[in-house]
This record gives sequence, structure tokens and C-alpha cells, in this order.
Amino acid sequence: MTTMMRAFETGAAAVPSTLETAASPVELLPVVQPAPQPAQPELAPPHGRAIVITSGKGGVGKTTTTANLGTALAARGQRVVLVDADVGLRNLDIVLGLESRVRFHLLDVLEEKATLEEALIRDKRTESLSLLAAAQTREKEDVVTAQMTTLIEELRRRFDYVLIDCPAGIEKGFKNAVAGAQHAIIVCTPEVSAVRDADRVVGLLPNDWRPDLIVNRVRPQLVKKGKMLSVDDVNDILRLPLLGVIAEEPGVIVATNKGEPLALDPASGIGAAYRAIAAKLVGEETPDASDVGSNGGGWFAKLGALLGGR
Ligand SMILES: Nc1ncnc2c1ncn2[C@@H]1O[C@H](COP(=O)(O)OP(=O)(O)O)[C@@H](O)[C@H]1O
Ligand SMILES: [Mg+2]
Repeated sequence: MTTMMRAFETGAAAVPSTLETAASPVELLPVVQPAPQPAQPELAPPHGRAIVITSGKGGVGKTTTTANLGTALAARGQRVVLVDADVGLRNLDIVLGLESRVRFHLLDVLEEKATLEEALIRDKRTESLSLLAAAQTREKEDVVTAQMTTLIEELRRRFDYVLIDCPAGIEKGFKNAVAGAQHAIIVCTPEVSAVRDADRVVGLLPNDWRPDLIVNRVRPQLVKKGKMLSVDDVNDILRLPLLGVIAEEPGVIVATNKGEPLALDPASGIGAAYRAIAAKLVGEETPDASDVGSNGGGWFAKLGALLGGR
């Protein structure tokens, strides 16, 4: 109850009227000015672009793509944060070689056990790259979708790109990873099951989205022999803008185990492929980002002709 209301109820005047004041011999207490309130810090607008890397099927290269694309974007000077939304598994820190630095994770932030500042891990190689790791000992169901949306918006205030590494499947983990994102990159391999899952995922994304496609683990020799789907075969079904094509390359697994993203390796064809995808994403024209993806100059150049059955 306010003083004014209490005064009204008891019949006492909370503030003397002007007339009473004029007639009153009682000296008025000096008016105490309220202390100036500290100015509210201006919230930066959520300018960054939140992109979910998704596929439906597991093992197609979402985490590899998130790490390499994020690294390539950061190497271009973009401020990038990678969010591992694969709660319960936690992979992204390993691919980046940051596993020993994880102290807090996504759920710690959502449950206010840690601040974003405490939980964000700065990459050891690329200064403008940060990681928000996933909880290993928690369930995907523990994440509240609305909180995830708020978190991504907060990250969009601080970073130019927020790349969200989506778990496999189409259940709650997928929904949480998509919540707060504005765009999707679909990663698909040239396998019928992967294409079918990718198609299903596209159907579950918001209607007004136009996701981009990355076809990963392409083996040109098998495509040539008709033993593997071509990029065109894949995209005849998905019909999405092709952001890039990545070859199957043993170096990817070696790099993953070493925690060194190939995007920083100037000699790697896979690295070049991810750098070209990053350039395309920031709107820079490249000769043809879909024609890249394997080590070695000649073979690398031939890949473009082999891919897509052209
Ligand atoms: N282009 C590639 N060539 C060879 N191996 C790859 C390639 N892309 C991904 N891999 C490997 O495939 C496995 C699954 O990749 P990952 O990125 O973890 O998939 P997802 O996140 O979709 O489950 C990892 O061992 C990774 O190193
Ligand atoms: Mg993964």
C-alpha cells in the first residue's frame, strides 16, 4: 500500500494542499531530490546472423562443418560464436581442440549457474572465434526452448555470426537448435537415407526459410562409376541453393582427432572449400564455391567436372 493510499484511508492528508501550506506556520521540510539513477546500459541490437547447421541424419558432417565454417568466417575477421546444441554428446570442443578449456556449458548459462562471459571459450588460434560448449551429462529435454531463443538473441548482440551445431534427429534437440536461428544450412551426404532425412528436416523448418545446401563426403571416383549419388542427384530431390561441395577425405578425420580445423590449412582442399563457403556466406563472389573440396591441385580441379555428373 502506498503512503498516499494509507493516508487516504486514515483520513490524514499525505501532502498538504497549497492553501494549507500558505496558512501553515509549520516550516516545510526541504524537498529531497531523488538520487540520479545510473543510466541503463543501451542494449546493442541483435545484428548478428544466427544459422543452424542441420541434417536429420547423424554422421554427415554437421559438427565438422560448424567448426570449419566458423573458423573460416572468423579468419576473415568476423566475430563468430559456435553453439554446441548437441546436448548430451559434446563434440564441437574436441574438433576445435578446446576440450580442456570447457568449464561451463550451455545449460549452465540457461540455468544461470554461469554467465555468458564465464562460459564462452575463446578459440586458441582464431581470436574472433568463441565456443559455447554442450553439457555432456544432461539430456536434450532439459533445454527450455524459450530460454534458448533468448540466449541466441543475446549472442546475436555480441557476434556477427552465431553458428548452431544441431543434433541428429527431429525431436526436442532439433527444435531447440532451430529456435532463435534465422537461417539453416543443410548438410547432406550422397546417400539415399541422408537425402531423405534432409528433405524431412527442410519440411520442418519455418516456411519462409530458404536453407542452403552443403553436400559432404562426395567421392568423385564413385560418382563417375555410377556407384554414388551425384550432387545433382541429391539436389534433384532437395532443390536448395548449393553453398558448397566437400569431398570425402581422410585428412578430415585426422584433423578432427588433432583438434585442428582444416579451414586454417592453406594446403588443404577441404580447407579451401570451407573458406570458399565462408566467402559465399558473407556475400563475396568466388569463382565457384561448389567446385572445391579435395586435396591436390589437378585432382582438385577435376572434382568440379566430376561432381554432379556434368
Ligand atoms: N569430408 C569428410 N571426409 C572424411 N570424413 C569426414 C568428412 N566430414 C566428416 N567426416 C567424419 O565423419 C564423422 C562424422 O562427422 P561429424 O561432423 O561429427 O558429423 P555429424 O555432426 O553430422 O554427426 C567424423 O569422424 C568426421 O571426422
Ligand atoms: Mg555432430
